[in-house]
Amino acid sequence: MFMCRIFAAALAEGKVSPILKIGLKRLEYGGYDSAGMATINGDHLEIKKGVGKIDEVDKAVNFESLEGNVGIAHNRWATHGYPSVTNAHPIVDCTGNIAVVHNGVIENFLELKEDLIEKGHVFKSRTDTEVVAHLVEEELKEEKDFVNACLKAIKKVEGSYALAIIYSKEPDKIVLVKKESPLYLGIGKDGNFASSDPVAFVDKTNLMIPLEDYELAVITPYYYKIYSINTGNIITRKPTEINITPQMIEKGGFPHYMLKEIFEQPTSLYYAMNIQKPYLEAIAELMYRSKINFLVGAGTSYHSCLAASYMYSKLAGLATIPVVASEFIHQYGNTLDPDTSLLLVSQSGETADVLKVASFARMKASTVMAITNVVSSTITRLSRLYLVQQAGPEIGVAATKTYTSQLLIHLLLALEIGKKREKISEEEFKDYFAKIRSIPKIAESILKNTEQKVKEVAEILKDSSHIFYLGRGINTATAFEGRLKMLEIAYIPSSAFSAGESKHGPIALIEKNTPVIFVAPNDSSRRVILGNIMEIKSRGGKIITLGNSDDKELKEVSDIYIEMPESEDILTPILYVLPLQLLAYYTAVLRGLDPDKPRNLAKSVTVE
Ligand code: G6P
Repeated sequence: MFMCRIFAAALAEGKVSPILKIGLKRLEYGGYDSAGMATINGDHLEIKKGVGKIDEVDKAVNFESLEGNVGIAHNRWATHGYPSVTNAHPIVDCTGNIAVVHNGVIENFLELKEDLIEKGHVFKSRTDTEVVAHLVEEELKEEKDFVNACLKAIKKVEGSYALAIIYSKEPDKIVLVKKESPLYLGIGKDGNFASSDPVAFVDKTNLMIPLEDYELAVITPYYYKIYSINTGNIITRKPTEINITPQMIEKGGFPHYMLKEIFEQPTSLYYAMNIQKPYLEAIAELMYRSKINFLVGAGTSYHSCLAASYMYSKLAGLATIPVVASEFIHQYGNTLDPDTSLLLVSQSGETADVLKVASFARMKASTVMAITNVVSSTITRLSRLYLVQQAGPEIGVAATKTYTSQLLIHLLLALEIGKKREKISEEEFKDYFAKIRSIPKIAESILKNTEQKVKEVAEILKDSSHIFYLGRGINTATAFEGRLKMLEIAYIPSSAFSAGESKHGPIALIEKNTPVIFVAPNDSSRRVILGNIMEIKSRGGKIITLGNSDDKELKEVSDIYIEMPESEDILTPILYVLPLQLLAYYTAVLRGLDPDKPRNLAKSVTVE
């Protein structure tokens, strides 16, 4: 389960459940559709779990009634399957002696499940996590030692995981295992802890040890040990000090959710890349068969539709029509019929304008499909097929990580349709895929390498009366999105145009030092955009350019140049928007505004 958070604690004295509850609350930013806890009381497990936010579940089950000094806890943000009590963690084995909490995705769980069912195990939940409980149970039939059984079991598991496992017959121990999903040990005087995020135990100890991939650790109230999963050898690693203030707690160490979410993009992109394949193929098939394809969204989600229309055209030779949701029925309502498809894009899945289009299109027997970030949202009920972005909850009102993840999903769809329409060869398909796989890493380096420069630009822009954003081709959408971020949270009047349009009006507003931000990657529009830069420059505009790091010519004509890595043109909207998100964020902060709570705006607009 991606974007869930786990917390485990082994105390020398006292009940663990109140401490687990406080930790879970601090981890609530990572998910809040179900929560659960398991403790070891004497020789048996006690478990409480339920659906809803932690406070709601607590009210219903009273977590603090759990006895025992050793326990594990979990909060979940559903991506596969609806939140339910059965699917909430902790998940147990057949005997009820082993309990597991998990953050991550077990990729080979179907194979493992079949095998375990053949061996007589009975599965209760629909989670991938449950295989871990049964695997450990299976190993314990031969291997009497809990830690060794976990070491053996985990070798069979493929995918990503941060796991905490307890076993009532060895009541002092908690086994922790890590691959790809984060996991930290907290080393205290009166007990030891482990969590997806050290904020969970920051008030109990300031010493932590980050676990590395393929490591298994054991904590008890009195000691901790770390093993290599591959060799079984013990690893020695000293704890380091935690550098987090209590105020930063809920934001995972960041001053604002927005900044945290901007920096989460390497992870959210990784998860978008691993989206549910069968649904992706099914949506591609329906788009391929339709006579007309519309892409519909509001705000940021509309911008992803706009960029996507270039992707479908370039990679699949497929014409798609991007439309703003609130205009759709007036503009195209009368054209809908059973041969028409609509791909609706909505982070929240609750935007009223988008839902209205969905209901309308259903009445016309058109095919309604959706991309959303919220698995149980209304749009999923109105759509014939939908894809869940798996970007994790986005709390900042300005959409950031969900935008880039929408773009990546469109890209995967475009490639799939391109293959069907024989517009790209198998070879090209693989080549694109290899490039897509490198996106999370490139995004990470862009965020790191441009942040300082962006802060300097924010300092220059913070008192501007008007900012222009210009881009061409697919990055017209990037210009629009950069402008929207600036408007939404820094409240600086801003305009965005396709650069070719600038001479048809906007250029009249250029005066000495008017800031103009150009999105100018090294693609087919690079030559023409250089011409547009010269037009603005000769009228005194301040040229701020995002371009290829080795583009000397662009660098020379720009007043400020933000260096970007070379990349495939179709990927540039995902990468070039990153510094623009940071720019809006830092400009807002410098203007003394709270980027997480922009005036007049709501995360999800549920009225027309
Ligand atoms: C609101 C938010 C925007 C968002 C838009 C669409 O206006 O403030 O940030 O892009 O809704 O939201 P959706 O959930 O449908 O993507």
